[in-house]
Amino acid sequence: MNSLNQLSTLPTNARIVEVGPRDGLQNEKQLISTSDKVTLIQMLADAGVSHIESGSFVSPKWVPQMATSTDVFNTLQRKQNVSYMALTPNMKGFESAVSANVSEVAIFGAASESFSQKNINCSIEESLERFKPIMEAAKMANIPVRGYVSCVVGCPYEGEISPEKVADVAETLYKMGCYEVSLGDTIGVGTPASVQQMLQAVIARVPKEKLAVHFHDTYGQALTNIYTALQNGISVIDSSVAGLGGCPYAKGASGNVATEDVLYLLKGLNISTNIDLNKVLKAGWFIAEKLGKPVNSKVSAAMLAAQ
Ligand code: HMG
Ligand code: MG
Repeated sequence: MNSLNQLSTLPTNARIVEVGPRDGLQNEKQLISTSDKVTLIQMLADAGVSHIESGSFVSPKWVPQMATSTDVFNTLQRKQNVSYMALTPNMKGFESAVSANVSEVAIFGAASESFSQKNINCSIEESLERFKPIMEAAKMANIPVRGYVSCVVGCPYEGEISPEKVADVAETLYKMGCYEVSLGDTIGVGTPASVQQMLQAVIARVPKEKLAVHFHDTYGQALTNIYTALQNGISVIDSSVAGLGGCPYAKGASGNVATEDVLYLLKGLNISTNIDLNKVLKAGWFIAEKLGKPVNSKVSAAMLAAQ
């Protein structure tokens, strides 16, 4: 197959799920004000991002940065056709999310027992039980539910994770009614070989149109892993403005792949997103300045230097 043929098998459109205001900020020790979080979310929406994870309804003792999520959702000036999403680990979180008028929620499980215990204080089996009433209540309230599987290639406590285990959890979430299952390489250890193996196992059990990929860039492999996912027909990509991110319960996990870098890759592949990269760059500079740290995106740095 020549290179043109290979490109022709790629999707023509992709959807970005921007996780910066949640995954990007949850690990930051310095508390960001509600008004700065809201400004960030609104800048992303103005850039054309249609799906923005804007907070999470988890225990404030576990993740202090997300304690203001209710205020964030209540302060947002919402745009039509933008989904403002939030994580909900249990019914308490789901009820708070509904009161804050979220557009959709996400439940989050893992393919690793140890990570599940550290992250949400229960086994994989128990987490799936906890998700059932959320699914029922969400159905009644007409709220779409997204599912996450963490540690899809490796776990900070257990090492390699079997693709079959990932497929088991992904299929269970899908069959429970999640409209989409996002596959999280929480500690960014995957390479195209391990990612391909994992995707093959999952795609055999869940339609590829119902899958998203969520790569942290700890080992610098995220973009190449996204390309692998695109070649497998997956066209929903989670990413974080300014490359912010990390999970408090995954030691050493660094930022998510930068939205700026993903947009540049997709544009080069002629895959449309309807997102204005220049506006996302500005959102990245805005939040980096608030955090007092540099933007973690090569595209952002290159475009700034070229200005
Ligand atoms: P627990 O301690 O087992 O829960 O934590 P509990 O039910 O025994 O409650 C203990 C206390 O938490 C009580 O308060 C509850 O009211 C409170 P107290 O009586 O002690 O004052 N509580 C809550 N408060 C607010 N909102 C709630 C809530 N639930 C209980 N929803 C729990 C279990 C799940 C709550 C906890 O483990 C937790 O909050 N974990 C969240 C961890 C987290 O947010 N991790 C990061 C997100 S996941 C991620 O980043 C991965 C992802 O990006 C994909 C990838 O990269 O792989 C999605
Ligand atoms: Mg993550």
